[in-house]
Amino acid sequence: MKLTDFKALIKQRCGLTFEGVGEASLVSGLQKRIAETGAKNASAYYASLMADEHEFHELIALLTINETYFYREPEQLQLLVNSLIPRILTRKQDASPVRILCAGCSSGEEPYSIAIALREKYGESAASLFMLAGGDIDKGALEKARIGCYTEFSFRSLAPELRERYFNRQDKRIWGVKDDLRQQVHFYHVNLLVARHPDDAQNFDIIFFRNVSIYFDMPTRRVIQQHLATLLNDDGYLITGIAETLANNLGVFNLVEEGGLFYFAKQHPGSAKPLLLKPKPPAHQTEATSRTAFSPHRATQASTPPVREAPPQVVPLPLLTPVTASAEEALRLIQEKRYDEAMTALALLLEQYPGSSAALLLKAHILLHRKDYAAAEESAQQALGIEPWSTDAFVLLGLVAKWRNQADTAVKWFKQAVYARNECWPAHYYLGELYRADSKVDNARRAYRVVLQLLAAQQAPNDGLSIIPLGLPVSEVRFLCEHQLAKLDDGHKAISG
Ligand SMILES: C[S@@+](CC[C@H](N)C(=O)[O-])C[C@H]1O[C@@H](n2cnc3c(N)ncnc32)[C@H](O)[C@@H]1O
Repeated sequence: MKLTDFKALIKQRCGLTFEGVGEASLVSGLQKRIAETGAKNASAYYASLMADEHEFHELIALLTINETYFYREPEQLQLLVNSLIPRILTRKQDASPVRILCAGCSSGEEPYSIAIALREKYGESAASLFMLAGGDIDKGALEKARIGCYTEFSFRSLAPELRERYFNRQDKRIWGVKDDLRQQVHFYHVNLLVARHPDDAQNFDIIFFRNVSIYFDMPTRRVIQQHLATLLNDDGYLITGIAETLANNLGVFNLVEEGGLFYFAKQHPGSAKPLLLKPKPPAHQTEATSRTAFSPHRATQASTPPVREAPPQVVPLPLLTPVTASAEEALRLIQEKRYDEAMTALALLLEQYPGSSAALLLKAHILLHRKDYAAAEESAQQALGIEPWSTDAFVLLGLVAKWRNQADTAVKWFKQAVYARNECWPAHYYLGELYRADSKVDNARRAYRVVLQLLAAQQAPNDGLSIIPLGLPVSEVRFLCEHQLAKLDDGHKAISG
């Protein structure tokens, strides 16, 4: 039995592909399950996958990437509560709730974030105005979602006051979703590749399908979109991750641009009921204004009438707005998570100035974000060829190696980074994590302490990087270092005591 047989079976049953760097995770998942089930060999294990659906799901649970957190891509939550929901409410003929599905909801942070954003905007009435569902193939992730208990890491993007409002502290590390919010979200097991969804998981007004399609090839994405289209009401919307727009523009839905954000509509927006319109401000102005308006402190927003905006525009391909070819512009687009546009700006810049190390580094940063590790590595190496002591390039190469599970190589690059710029606290932090994973307790302790010293030294600590926006949150890293140090110290005491 060959690896290609397992790959074909998994792709055929749930669409996931394991080519290139993904292959290593498939191999280690298979090894783990073969050992745990006591299968005699790969062929015996393959036979058990064919015969036993439970075993198939055990394997899939090991292979799915469940990365998620509260208030991921908040611009889209803002689009939801400020534009799409008011439009749907205006159209609704009856008092039935607006139905929202998160397809590929992982451990629940996404649907709970939507529930929070809706409560912030619509107050208590959100409980009856909206129905939320989350579906995922990973039963373990769904169980976590139903329980609704989360550690600090899930809260890295959520304002602390929202956590206070919607969660109860369970212990030092864990917060639980408050009951009323938890009861508003219904979770169910689903394989998105299969058209069968439960009877009560149909007729949605909006489907979030974010950060899931990246794991499928194009024909699979199209099949899944066709299934999702059958679950969506005629005037419904499909929202993909911000960096996934192009990859999902497959002709199943109409691509729409609104206020600088993209989403898909089942029906041509021109055929939707016309709205009273006011002229549309420039995209940057819309974003800046609405970002402030989204603030949880703006309670008065809740009672304002639905926003009457410019008509959403159906976007033909190519859909990118023209951008000025400068590294600053690309950086701004990255910070706004407009990765497709940033890549276009960088391509233009690199056409004009092939030796721009800033453009190569930003490109590597986006490619890393998209998990295109080989291309990210190539771009960072090119930057290093131009700027041999680029801390940014060392950190990017370290991250590529780390995410590929090549710990030794990652350590080598992060060491280079701190050698080039000792104040590069992200590199020290990653070293700490790698040493800890490798049980090099003393090295890990030293690295975490250096991070704490560097972070304590200044109000806004310099991370030693010149261009890439790593975006590691200082307070969270400080918390994690303290936490890991305490754990390492406890372990030390337990052994020596
Ligand atoms: C990276 S998470 C995205 C979570 C969330 N949507 C977000 O944006 O934060 C991807 C999720 O898709 C799920 N998934 C992958 N293939 C699937 C399939 N065929 N059917 C249903 N869910 C699937 C995985 O189990 C995983 O939880």
